[in-house]
Amino acid sequence: MDYLKKMYLESIGIDYLPGGMPPSIEQGSDTATEFATLQELRDEIGDCRRCPLSKDRHHIVFGVGNPDADLVFVGEAPGRDEDDQGEPFVGKAGQLLTKIISAMGFSRGDVYICNVIKCRPPDNRDPLPAEIEMCEPFVKEQLRIIKPRAICALGSFASQTLLKSEIKISRLRGQFHDYYGVPLMPTYHPSYLLRNPNAKRDVWEDIKKVMELLDLPLSRHENS
Ligand code: URA
Repeated sequence: MDYLKKMYLESIGIDYLPGGMPPSIEQGSDTATEFATLQELRDEIGDCRRCPLSKDRHHIVFGVGNPDADLVFVGEAPGRDEDDQGEPFVGKAGQLLTKIISAMGFSRGDVYICNVIKCRPPDNRDPLPAEIEMCEPFVKEQLRIIKPRAICALGSFASQTLLKSEIKISRLRGQFHDYYGVPLMPTYHPSYLLRNPNAKRDVWEDIKKVMELLDLPLSRHENS
Protein backbone atom coordinates (compact mmCIF):
# COMPACT_ATOMS: atom_id res chain seq x y z
CA MET A 1 0.00 0.00 0.00
CA ASP A 2 1.29 3.43 -0.91
CA TYR A 3 0.90 5.01 2.50
CA LEU A 4 2.88 2.18 4.14
CA LYS A 5 5.59 2.52 1.49
CA LYS A 6 5.67 6.28 2.03
CA MET A 7 5.77 5.98 5.84
CA TYR A 8 8.63 3.50 5.55
CA LEU A 9 10.59 5.70 3.12
CA GLU A 10 10.11 8.76 5.35
CA SER A 11 11.13 6.79 8.44
CA ILE A 12 14.48 6.02 6.83
CA GLY A 13 14.92 9.60 5.65
CA ILE A 14 14.13 9.11 1.92
CA ASP A 15 12.04 11.84 0.31
CA TYR A 16 13.09 11.30 -3.31
CA LEU A 17 12.89 8.26 -5.57
CA PRO A 18 14.00 8.31 -9.25
CA GLY A 19 10.64 6.85 -10.38
CA GLY A 20 8.75 9.36 -8.21
CA MET A 21 7.47 9.16 -4.67
CA PRO A 22 4.02 7.65 -4.00
CA PRO A 23 1.23 10.27 -4.35
CA SER A 24 0.84 12.58 -1.38
CA ILE A 25 -2.21 14.39 0.01
CA GLU A 26 -0.89 17.57 -1.70
CA GLN A 27 -1.88 15.94 -5.00
CA GLY A 28 -5.40 15.18 -3.77
CA SER A 29 -6.84 18.58 -4.62
CA ASP A 30 -8.90 19.38 -7.75
CA THR A 31 -9.74 23.02 -7.00
CA ALA A 32 -8.17 25.57 -9.35
CA THR A 33 -6.69 27.34 -6.32
CA GLU A 34 -5.29 25.72 -3.22
CA PHE A 35 -6.45 27.36 -0.01
CA ALA A 36 -4.34 27.88 3.10
CA THR A 37 -7.18 27.42 5.58
CA LEU A 38 -10.62 25.85 5.81
CA GLN A 39 -12.08 29.35 6.30
CA GLU A 40 -10.56 30.53 3.02
CA LEU A 41 -12.09 27.52 1.27
CA ARG A 42 -15.45 28.21 2.96
CA ASP A 43 -15.26 31.83 1.78
CA GLU A 44 -14.62 30.63 -1.77
CA ILE A 45 -17.71 28.40 -1.66
CA GLY A 46 -19.72 31.44 -0.54
CA ASP A 47 -23.47 31.27 -1.17
CA CYS A 48 -22.83 28.49 -3.70
CA ARG A 49 -25.09 28.30 -6.78
CA ARG A 50 -22.89 25.91 -8.75
CA CYS A 51 -25.50 23.13 -8.89
CA PRO A 52 -29.30 22.77 -8.60
CA LEU A 53 -29.09 21.47 -5.00
CA SER A 54 -28.64 25.12 -3.98
CA LYS A 55 -32.28 25.81 -4.92
CA ASP A 56 -33.90 23.95 -2.01
CA ARG A 57 -31.19 23.96 0.63
CA HIS A 58 -31.43 26.00 3.80
CA HIS A 59 -27.76 25.79 4.78
CA ILE A 60 -24.53 24.78 3.14
CA VAL A 61 -23.16 22.09 5.45
CA PHE A 62 -19.42 22.64 5.14
CA GLY A 63 -17.95 20.67 8.04
CA VAL A 64 -17.17 20.98 11.75
CA GLY A 65 -14.40 20.13 14.15
CA ASN A 66 -10.70 20.44 14.60
CA PRO A 67 -8.91 21.94 11.56
CA ASP A 68 -5.76 20.04 12.68
CA ALA A 69 -7.57 16.77 13.32
CA ASP A 70 -5.70 13.47 13.12
CA LEU A 71 -8.94 11.85 11.99
CA VAL A 72 -11.57 13.02 9.50
CA PHE A 73 -14.97 11.35 9.09
CA VAL A 74 -16.50 11.80 5.64
CA GLY A 75 -20.20 11.09 5.07
CA GLU A 76 -22.46 11.36 2.05
CA ALA A 77 -24.65 14.46 2.16
CA PRO A 78 -26.68 16.43 4.69
CA GLY A 79 -30.13 15.19 5.63
CA ARG A 80 -33.03 17.32 6.86
CA ASP A 81 -31.61 17.97 10.36
CA GLU A 82 -28.21 18.90 8.98
CA ASP A 83 -29.80 21.18 6.36
CA ASP A 84 -31.81 22.89 9.12
CA GLN A 85 -28.84 23.35 11.46
CA GLY A 86 -25.94 23.78 9.02
CA GLU A 87 -23.89 21.09 10.78
CA PRO A 88 -23.08 17.56 9.59
CA PHE A 89 -24.30 14.47 11.43
CA VAL A 90 -26.64 16.04 13.98
CA GLY A 91 -29.73 13.86 13.31
CA LYS A 92 -30.31 10.26 14.47
CA ALA A 93 -27.41 8.89 12.42
CA GLY A 94 -25.28 11.73 13.72
CA GLN A 95 -26.06 10.85 17.31
CA LEU A 96 -24.81 7.34 16.61
CA LEU A 97 -21.65 8.73 15.00
CA THR A 98 -21.13 10.90 18.09
CA LYS A 99 -21.33 7.74 20.25
CA ILE A 100 -18.72 6.04 18.04
CA ILE A 101 -16.46 9.09 18.36
CA SER A 102 -16.88 9.05 22.18
CA ALA A 103 -16.11 5.33 22.30
CA MET A 104 -12.80 6.15 20.62
CA GLY A 105 -12.02 8.52 23.49
CA PHE A 106 -12.63 11.63 21.36
CA SER A 107 -15.20 14.40 21.39
CA ARG A 108 -16.69 15.77 18.16
CA GLY A 109 -14.39 18.77 18.49
CA ASP A 110 -11.28 16.58 18.44
CA VAL A 111 -12.00 15.15 14.98
CA TYR A 112 -13.27 16.76 11.77
CA ILE A 113 -16.63 15.77 10.27
CA CYS A 114 -17.81 16.61 6.77
CA ASN A 115 -19.63 15.20 3.75
CA VAL A 116 -18.80 14.73 0.08
CA ILE A 117 -21.89 16.79 -0.86
CA LYS A 118 -22.48 20.05 1.00
CA CYS A 119 -26.20 20.62 0.26
CA ARG A 120 -29.14 18.34 1.00
CA PRO A 121 -30.45 16.36 -1.98
CA PRO A 122 -34.27 16.66 -2.06
CA ASP A 123 -36.05 13.76 -0.29
CA ASN A 124 -32.60 12.39 0.56
CA ARG A 125 -32.19 11.01 -2.96
CA ASP A 126 -28.74 9.93 -4.13
CA PRO A 127 -26.59 12.80 -5.40
CA LEU A 128 -26.43 13.01 -9.21
CA PRO A 129 -23.13 12.70 -11.11
CA ALA A 130 -23.16 16.42 -12.03
CA GLU A 131 -23.68 17.36 -8.36
CA ILE A 132 -20.81 15.12 -7.31
CA GLU A 133 -18.57 16.60 -9.98
CA MET A 134 -19.29 20.12 -8.68
CA CYS A 135 -18.93 19.36 -4.97
CA GLU A 136 -16.28 16.66 -4.67
CA PRO A 137 -13.33 19.06 -5.19
CA PHE A 138 -14.31 20.79 -1.93
CA VAL A 139 -14.03 17.67 0.23
CA LYS A 140 -10.74 16.84 -1.47
CA GLU A 141 -9.46 20.33 -0.68
CA GLN A 142 -10.67 20.01 2.94
CA LEU A 143 -8.65 16.80 3.25
CA ARG A 144 -5.60 18.44 1.64
CA ILE A 145 -5.77 21.39 4.04
CA ILE A 146 -6.29 19.25 7.17
CA LYS A 147 -3.80 16.51 6.20
CA PRO A 148 -5.20 14.03 8.74
CA ARG A 149 -3.32 10.90 9.78
CA ALA A 150 -6.41 8.81 8.93
CA ILE A 151 -9.77 9.14 7.17
CA CYS A 152 -12.90 7.16 7.98
CA ALA A 153 -15.34 7.08 5.05
CA LEU A 154 -18.90 6.43 6.18
CA GLY A 155 -20.93 4.28 3.80
CA SER A 156 -20.63 3.24 0.20
CA PHE A 157 -21.13 6.66 -1.37
CA ALA A 158 -18.27 8.39 0.48
CA SER A 159 -16.00 5.34 0.24
CA GLN A 160 -16.57 4.75 -3.47
CA THR A 161 -16.32 8.46 -4.33
CA LEU A 162 -13.04 9.04 -2.46
CA LEU A 163 -11.48 5.77 -3.60
CA LYS A 164 -12.80 6.00 -7.18
CA SER A 165 -14.06 2.47 -6.76
CA GLU A 166 -17.23 0.58 -7.58
CA ILE A 167 -16.53 -2.18 -5.08
CA LYS A 168 -19.30 -2.74 -2.53
CA ILE A 169 -18.85 -1.30 0.96
CA SER A 170 -19.15 -4.82 2.43
CA ARG A 171 -15.93 -5.70 0.58
CA LEU A 172 -14.15 -2.35 0.95
CA ARG A 173 -14.58 -2.16 4.73
CA GLY A 174 -12.29 -3.85 7.23
CA GLN A 175 -8.99 -2.73 5.74
CA PHE A 176 -7.17 0.49 5.04
CA HIS A 177 -7.03 1.85 1.50
CA ASP A 178 -4.75 4.53 0.16
CA TYR A 179 -6.09 8.06 -0.29
CA TYR A 180 -3.17 10.10 -1.62
CA GLY A 181 -0.85 8.66 0.99
CA VAL A 182 -3.39 8.83 3.85
CA PRO A 183 -4.85 5.55 5.18
CA LEU A 184 -8.61 5.52 4.59
CA MET A 185 -10.88 3.08 6.40
CA PRO A 186 -14.29 2.56 4.77
CA THR A 187 -17.02 1.45 7.14
CA TYR A 188 -20.80 1.19 7.21
CA HIS A 189 -22.78 4.43 7.40
CA PRO A 190 -24.43 5.14 10.78
CA SER A 191 -27.85 5.26 8.99
CA TYR A 192 -27.24 1.68 7.89
CA LEU A 193 -26.44 0.76 11.49
CA LEU A 194 -29.77 2.20 12.63
CA ARG A 195 -31.49 -0.26 10.26
CA ASN A 196 -29.02 -3.12 10.81
CA PRO A 197 -27.77 -3.03 14.41
CA ASN A 198 -25.90 -6.32 13.90
CA ALA A 199 -23.44 -4.49 11.66
CA LYS A 200 -22.27 -2.42 14.67
CA ARG A 201 -19.85 -5.24 15.46
CA ASP A 202 -18.16 -4.84 12.06
CA VAL A 203 -17.97 -1.07 12.46
CA TRP A 204 -16.33 -1.46 15.85
CA GLU A 205 -13.73 -3.79 14.30
CA ASP A 206 -13.01 -1.11 11.66
CA ILE A 207 -12.86 1.64 14.27
CA LYS A 208 -10.45 -0.39 16.42
CA LYS A 209 -8.09 -0.57 13.44
CA VAL A 210 -8.26 3.21 13.12
CA MET A 211 -7.57 3.57 16.86
CA GLU A 212 -4.59 1.27 16.58
CA LEU A 213 -3.21 3.28 13.69
CA LEU A 214 -3.61 6.49 15.71
CA ASP A 215 -2.05 4.87 18.80
CA LEU A 216 -5.24 5.34 20.83
CA PRO A 217 -5.65 3.06 23.86
CA LEU A 218 -8.04 0.19 23.07
CA SER A 219 -8.33 -1.68 26.31
CA ARG A 220 -10.88 0.46 28.19
CA HIS A 221 -13.26 0.27 25.16
CA GLU A 222 -12.81 -3.44 24.43
CA ASN A 223 -16.21 -4.35 25.87
CA SER A 224 -18.18 -1.45 24.36
N1 URA B 1 -25.83 11.41 6.56
C1 URA B 1 -24.70 11.86 6.00
O1 URA B 1 -24.08 11.19 5.17
N2 URA B 1 -24.23 13.04 6.41
C2 URA B 1 -24.83 13.79 7.31
O2 URA B 1 -24.34 14.86 7.63
C3 URA B 1 -26.01 13.29 7.89
C4 URA B 1 -26.49 12.10 7.50
